[in-house]
Amino acid sequence: MQFATVSKSTTTKFYKDVLNGLQSSPKRLDSKYFYDDIGDELFQQIMNCDEYYLTGCEMEILKTQSADIASTVFASEKNFDVVELGAGDCSKSVYLLRQILRRNKSFTFFPVDISKHVIDLIKEELPKKVRGLNIYGLNGEYMEMLKKANQLSAKRKLVLFMGSNIGNMNYEQSLAFCKEVRNSLKTGDYLLIGFDLKKDPQIILNAYNDKKGITREFNLNLLRRINRELNADFVIENFKHFPVYNPENGECKSYLVSMCKQQVTIDDTDLIELEENETIHTEISTKYSIEQINKMAGLTGFTEVEYFYDEKEWFVDVLWKCG
Ligand code: AVJ
Repeated sequence: MQFATVSKSTTTKFYKDVLNGLQSSPKRLDSKYFYDDIGDELFQQIMNCDEYYLTGCEMEILKTQSADIASTVFASEKNFDVVELGAGDCSKSVYLLRQILRRNKSFTFFPVDISKHVIDLIKEELPKKVRGLNIYGLNGEYMEMLKKANQLSAKRKLVLFMGSNIGNMNYEQSLAFCKEVRNSLKTGDYLLIGFDLKKDPQIILNAYNDKKGITREFNLNLLRRINRELNADFVIENFKHFPVYNPENGECKSYLVSMCKQQVTIDDTDLIELEENETIHTEISTKYSIEQINKMAGLTGFTEVEYFYDEKEWFVDVLWKCG
């Protein structure tokens, strides 16, 4: 039997994922690790950037069409709980939650988020915005927490997956994810899913390269986080934030490019070498067409129920039903 020791940072999943990604070729880091306390704050600032249109578009949808969304779901199902995957600050879902609460006082809202800080904030702030709401916060990964919500409540489910969070997966991953969500739900359950739509490629690229450089800081914070939590020595000035958008496949990808040949150590144990101009892929934000979205529903066991667009038709929240 091994002797129990104080757990070191290098025993965490974060460490293993980082090391694995930086030892791969090409190098990569998982975008889910953006969201530490500083990353959460930077993402809040991104959502307020002029160039980052996604939040405004989806906010408009939820503000103006939440009653329609709620009515549509209630037309066939009256007693269900709501699970929000990647709940964030709930600033958009509050509108829908209020509409649902008007129609059913006894449902439970399960916000799921990778950030513990975010879940703590929701538990503190959301009751002030939606009085009388039953909240059960779940801090962890999407699928694990969806399964946990199912264990906690046998009621029907409306799952919210908004904000273009699905964009953080490539096409194959998003199909696998939707199938997994479908398999954790029952026939007749609902999924409301937010897709950012293909549009003028310059508008998309600008959203990931704002003039104030907040997205740049957000991307670089991942290296700072690795320095802080894994005792690494990335020299932040040696890296450039570089987003690209490919209008052909709808993939907006962000990179950190090494501006010189350099070495980085993690916790004095691992040495990472970077060539000049070598890339670290940090994020994908996929943009969709309606045809692709419909196809995805069919391939993953859902049927399309309704589309809720913003005025400019830059974003869509799609209501799917488990077929
Ligand atoms: C939270 C995943 C929807 O990809 O648009 C914003 C994150 N990254 N700016 C996105 C993000 C850079 C965002 N999502």
